[in-house]
Amino acid sequence: MNFRFVPLKLKMDKATFVQTMFDAIAPRYDLMNAVMTFGQHQQLRRAAAKLALPPRNGLALDLATGTGDFASALREAEPTCRVVGVDFALEMMRLGQTKYHGRVMFAAGDMLRLPLPADTFDCAVNGFVLRNVADVRVAFAEMRRVLKPGGRAISLEITSPRTPIWKNVFGIYFDHLMPRLGGWLSGQPAAYRYLPQSVHAFLKPEQVVAVMRDLGFRDAAFQRWALGAMAVYVGVK
Ligand SMILES: C[S@@+](CC[C@H](N)C(=O)[O-])C[C@H]1O[C@@H](n2cnc3c(N)ncnc32)[C@H](O)[C@@H]1O
Repeated sequence: MNFRFVPLKLKMDKATFVQTMFDAIAPRYDLMNAVMTFGQHQQLRRAAAKLALPPRNGLALDLATGTGDFASALREAEPTCRVVGVDFALEMMRLGQTKYHGRVMFAAGDMLRLPLPADTFDCAVNGFVLRNVADVRVAFAEMRRVLKPGGRAISLEITSPRTPIWKNVFGIYFDHLMPRLGGWLSGQPAAYRYLPQSVHAFLKPEQVVAVMRDLGFRDAAFQRWALGAMAVYVGVK
């Protein structure tokens, strides 16, 4: 199926739009991540997973797990920890299950209405999803609800670099070259046009941290990684 995207004027609700898009690009999703980040994407998840501090024999959650890479990075950070990955795109998780069978427990669900009890997880992460949800405040509120008191929340998301010259160079790649390359390799050009649009339409890192603080996360803060193109958010329940 060739997925058709209508930027910012969605003809369906955002959740349906995003779910349909990821189910459509699932077969090429991992390849595209490797190509677009020049092979650096797993390293980012590994470093972010360490910040989650999954405890020995603990229980960790990866929201919007997709094909399970962030969930697997949590297992790598602490091999005794059990990891649950939740997503609503079943095709993405089907691929994840073949890669990480026995390492990650996959469960279908909407991260804005988690089918999970409160005060359950030692840590919770999400990667590359904040700009895709209909309400980022609800996403963090749900994340906080299912964390145990003292549990850590980590989010990883693409953002726009700020350094003037680098910002322009990155913009040429991210806004122009990458959508063409992604469209060509995946056969889903609309999905890779949506990627930079969704980043530009999303909140600034300082605004995301303000949402986290407002919801009661302690020590909420962000760091810029990957020459400022990634934001890593940290907060404690
Ligand atoms: C860019 S992918 C990221 C996947 C994975 N976290 C990673 O690091 O590769 C975004 C994922 O978020 C999922 N997603 C978006 N909104 C969601 C929601 N409300 N509930 C559950 N999953 C959601 C999509 O289905 C997709 O698999």
